[in-house]
Parts: sequence; C-alpha cells; structure tokens
Amino acid sequence: MTDSPRRVTVLDLAAAKRRKAPITMVTAYDWPTGRLVDEAGVDCVLVGDSVAMVVAGRSSTIPATLEQMIYHGEIVGRAASRALVVVDLPFPLQHLGPRRAVAACARLMKETGCQAVKLEGTAGQADVIAAIAAAGIPVMGHVGLRPQAVHQLGGYRMQRDAEPLLADARAAADAGAFAVLLECIPAPLAGQITADLDVPTIGIGAGPDCDGQVLVFHDLVGLSLDRVPRFVRGYADAKSAIAAGLAGWRDDVRARRFPGPAETLA
Ligand code: KIV
Repeated sequence: MTDSPRRVTVLDLAAAKRRKAPITMVTAYDWPTGRLVDEAGVDCVLVGDSVAMVVAGRSSTIPATLEQMIYHGEIVGRAASRALVVVDLPFPLQHLGPRRAVAACARLMKETGCQAVKLEGTAGQADVIAAIAAAGIPVMGHVGLRPQAVHQLGGYRMQRDAEPLLADARAAADAGAFAVLLECIPAPLAGQITADLDVPTIGIGAGPDCDGQVLVFHDLVGLSLDRVPRFVRGYADAKSAIAAGLAGWRDDVRARRFPGPAETLA
C-alpha cells in the first residue's frame, strides 16, 4: 500500500481503497512477531484474539480476556513503529452495551498504545460501533464468520447468507467503522460488499476482490501446529526450520560437539 516510513493511519487505508492499492494485515502477539511483521512493511498489525488458539492452544477465541489482549497489545504496540496496530475486543464486551464496550476499548487504547480496535458483530452491534467511534476510537468491524460465535454458527464454516451479511457490513460502515473485516464469505459476495462500502474491506477466506487481505502470522509462516484452513497459503516452513535447529542442537550436545571452542569462555 505504502512504503512511507511514518505510521500508517486510518486515512491512509481510506486513500488506498480510492487508489485500489491492496492493503496488507497480519496478526502478531509478541515482541518478535510484532517486530517481524512491522519490519516486513505490512500496513496493519492485528493483535487478534486468535492469540487464545495459536499461542495458548485453546480450541476457540472465546477464552481470550481483556487483560490478555492488553498484555499482548502493549507488547506489539511497542514492537511495531510503522504499521497501524489494531487490537481485538474480546468476547463478550461488544454485547454488554455501548458504555461497557467504550470503557473496554478505552482501556485497550490507553494501556496498549495501539491505534485502533476491532470487534466482531452483526447489525445488532451498530450502536456499539457508533459509541466507540463517537469516543474518538478508530474501530474496525468484523462480519461473516465470527469466531467468537462459533458455537452459534455451528463451526468454522463459510457464511453464505447474502442479505444479512450485506446488512451487517453496511451497518458497521454506517455506524462509523473505518474498515470492515470479511471472514469466510464467498468471493462474489465479498466483492459485492467491497463495491457497496465506502470504507475498505479486509478479507480472510473472502477471495481476491476485497480491498485488503489478512492472515494469521503462524499460518502464513508455517508455524501453526494444527491443520490450517484451506484459504491459507504458507509462505515459509518455520515449523520445519525450528524442528531441524532443535534436533541439530540436541545431537551436537549428545555427541559433545556443543559447546565448541567458539562458544566456550575462558
Ligand atoms: O483474531 C484474529 O486473528 C482474527 C482473524 C480473522 C485475522 O480476527
């Protein structure tokens, strides 16, 4: 989207949509992943509540807490100096009314130093998005497959019901969201939503016609220990590289090749 050294802003994302310049976003959860994503020139870093799954090994994102999002958000907020850093509002704060949601988002902004928040929701959460935006907090909507609602949706599956999905995305944009994340939506429908909205769409499993793309860091670099969704393309094989490094060290210690003279202090 841009190679400028200054911090990416929500205005840059709006301008990227107008210029049809693809927006990039990757998740990060800690100092090394935050630094690596930022230094790669990715436009936005998402401190996703997927931390509960990919880092903590939970089976869904539901257990992520506000304190955990603040902990990880603060680290990534310091690690990333150029990307726009967005932190997820964890379940169920967007369902407890605008006052509690604004208070939680204010804590995310004050205590992490990040630049924006994201929340999963339907048109039913439009009032919450409006209250957060009115408080001066940049907020991204998240529609389609909403992992926090996985049990209600019957699993991690494509969302195909066009009318409610169009309404959810439009409601988020009309309420003041600066962008809307589209997860697991058929490509033609994601394209239709993207054309319908004035704000950028960022897709995951939503085809090529979104204004931007987001992937989970561990999926992108081949570090996920469990099966990855079909819409992921692995760009590295970090798991094999790490396993080879660990096995090499273990074998060297067992054969008394490590430490050698270079690693031995007099
Ligand atoms: O928490 C997360 O990682 C997400 C993904 C959809 C990118 O929201």
